[in-house]
Amino acid sequence: MKIPVLTIDGPSGAGKGTVSRAVAKKMGWNYLDSGSIYRSLAIAVMKKKCDITDVDTVVNIAETMKLEFECGDELVVKLDGKDITSELPFETIGNTASIVAAYPKVRAVLLQKQQDFQQEPGLVADGRDMGTIVFPNALKKVYLTASAEERGKRRCNQLLEKGNDANLAEIIKEIEVRDRRDQERATAPLKKSDNALYIDSSDLSIEKVVEEVLNLVR
Ligand code: C5P
Repeated sequence: MKIPVLTIDGPSGAGKGTVSRAVAKKMGWNYLDSGSIYRSLAIAVMKKKCDITDVDTVVNIAETMKLEFECGDELVVKLDGKDITSELPFETIGNTASIVAAYPKVRAVLLQKQQDFQQEPGLVADGRDMGTIVFPNALKKVYLTASAEERGKRRCNQLLEKGNDANLAEIIKEIEVRDRRDQERATAPLKKSDNALYIDSSDLSIEKVVEEVLNLVR
């Protein structure tokens, strides 16, 4: 029997991570945070201080970096044996991730790493191209979005809760730049898959969105 996959795509800060984790927990399924793979690559590239426009070098890092995911209550990510979880949420990392994510060769290298998460008894996969490219035959697909203002507020609160500095106006501007880059790139742009359920979470509680997604899967 084919292992079922639920894909949740959408722009940053739409609540995909929180919703995906909650649904995965309820279903007892595995969880793929594909953004953290691109973010880990961004960290690897930044740590090596290499030229981000040198595609071959970036591809080489994507091929050789060793990533480990520990999916407990909180996701722990290790890059080449070092815990980088606390570095992942920064917008500079998200922004660099979206630059390297636009390289088709990088996406080709990271494709299999993501597909390997399709393990029994099922998978909730969150990202930009989960329903369109990585798991086109997914059992169910969701496109989760919210206004840029609302997403900025959520991102700001997440950073503040973790004890980081955050400036709302700057974050909204950064989110809009990143959204545009993700939507306008030639390879695997962020877009709603034809058969995905569209949910705008601007005025919905997380609980309501989780309920709607669970109804879809069950
Ligand atoms: O979801 P998150 O904000 O962590 O993603 C960081 C960046 O990684 C995105 O802005 C996007 O450019 C890239 N990404 C992607 N495809 C995915 C997941 C993330 O291109 N499936």
